[in-house]
Amino acid sequence: MAKLITDDNHSELLKKFNASLLFDKELYAQDIKGSIAHANMLCSQNIINDDEYSQIKKGLLQIKNEIEKGVFNFTLEDEDIHMAIESRLIDIIGDSGKKLHTARSRNDQVALDFRMYCLEKQDEISLLLKDLIGSLLEISSKHTDTLLPGMTHLQHAQPINFSFHLLAYASMFKRDVDRCVSSNKRNNISPIGCAALAGTGYEIDREKTAKELGFDSISINCLDTVSDRDFALELLFNISTMAMHISRLCEELVNWSSYEFGFIKISDEFSTGSSIMPQKRNPDIPELLRAKTGRVNGNLLGLLTVMKSLPLAYNKDTQEDKEGVFDSVKTALSSLEILNALMNNITINKDKMKEATKIGHLSSTDLADFLVNSDNLAFRDAYHIIKKVVQYAEDKNIDVSQMSLEQLREVYPDMKKEALEYLSLEASMNRRVSKGGTATKECEEQIKYFKNWLKDS
Ligand code: ARG
Repeated sequence: MAKLITDDNHSELLKKFNASLLFDKELYAQDIKGSIAHANMLCSQNIINDDEYSQIKKGLLQIKNEIEKGVFNFTLEDEDIHMAIESRLIDIIGDSGKKLHTARSRNDQVALDFRMYCLEKQDEISLLLKDLIGSLLEISSKHTDTLLPGMTHLQHAQPINFSFHLLAYASMFKRDVDRCVSSNKRNNISPIGCAALAGTGYEIDREKTAKELGFDSISINCLDTVSDRDFALELLFNISTMAMHISRLCEELVNWSSYEFGFIKISDEFSTGSSIMPQKRNPDIPELLRAKTGRVNGNLLGLLTVMKSLPLAYNKDTQEDKEGVFDSVKTALSSLEILNALMNNITINKDKMKEATKIGHLSSTDLADFLVNSDNLAFRDAYHIIKKVVQYAEDKNIDVSQMSLEQLREVYPDMKKEALEYLSLEASMNRRVSKGGTATKECEEQIKYFKNWLKDS
């Protein structure tokens, strides 16, 4: 028989359901910082006196200490971190503590705390992204002439070098940093002082509080501000995009560490065995990293859905904004740290990479380009001739790059002997000197560009 919910159980269940304390205690530091700045402003506006302000500040700092030492008593009698800190403040300093909430509401308070959290975390993510880019550049600079097949459709296409491949990821992660920076610039706006929804009749100074908290400006419309969560959505989107980039790199690491590719070996520390197959080395870490995309995308969609159709202004629905963000932030920070370590724990098998360039007739485009120049052919005509050369090579079970002049002439009798220079895979890679191309020289330029950017940013 189903257990009946007694009244007591019922109210416990409700209390727990309604409360956010168990997760929003994550915001304690922002809440205390925001409260000190708010009290300071109240004092300079003569809304509270100096003595009250210093008691409030001292009490809040004591609470911070209690939380950090793990001795703060979190109880669901307090619905959220804001109530928990305020009621503890009143316990400690008495009546002065009751003045802290003058000219503010939990609505602008939570909007402030959560915004500060998102801004800070986005900066932390940027820093870790830059560390990762630094590692990619380090590895890149050692491989500007390490040949491997460049692919399109996961089919061998043209020879490139390993540096070029990693620099593509450096470009993605740089865009992720740029996105964090521009989001933070846009969202660096203080909500505090908006009060419940309509502003306040007290003579407050919002600019002063904003300045003390390091904001660039204050928000324009209080009704919007207390219910706006765009800043959190941007953070979630930025994390999702970054996680998608991480998943692409990790997918390659998984492929490259397989027998079929054999391009890299992941160190023992980052590989795992199988419980039944003694020979196995599984790339669990890059697999997990690529799978994290699922949860962060879920968190983004979750908050977009919470915000959809919400009437103005604050609604309790927005309490559901936090757990997904906390989860995405933790996932982003740990993923970046682990991916960075992983990149420094792979061994690159240059020979295997080079061997793989000898499959798939990677010199075909160069040979067609050669005919365009040597015989003044239109590219499309040259293309059709080389298509026949490829067919010939396939029939003979050799690679175009290995063909002799005689063999080339069997297909195209006018083939000049200089054509042989265009079969070299290394020369093919180094011929791609156009800006952003794969040539060693060009990759060195790209590395220089990213290094300068890291230095200046
Ligand atoms: N715990 C609430 C939240 O996270 C704080 C704001 C509550 N405001 C209110 N009027 N109930 O959104």
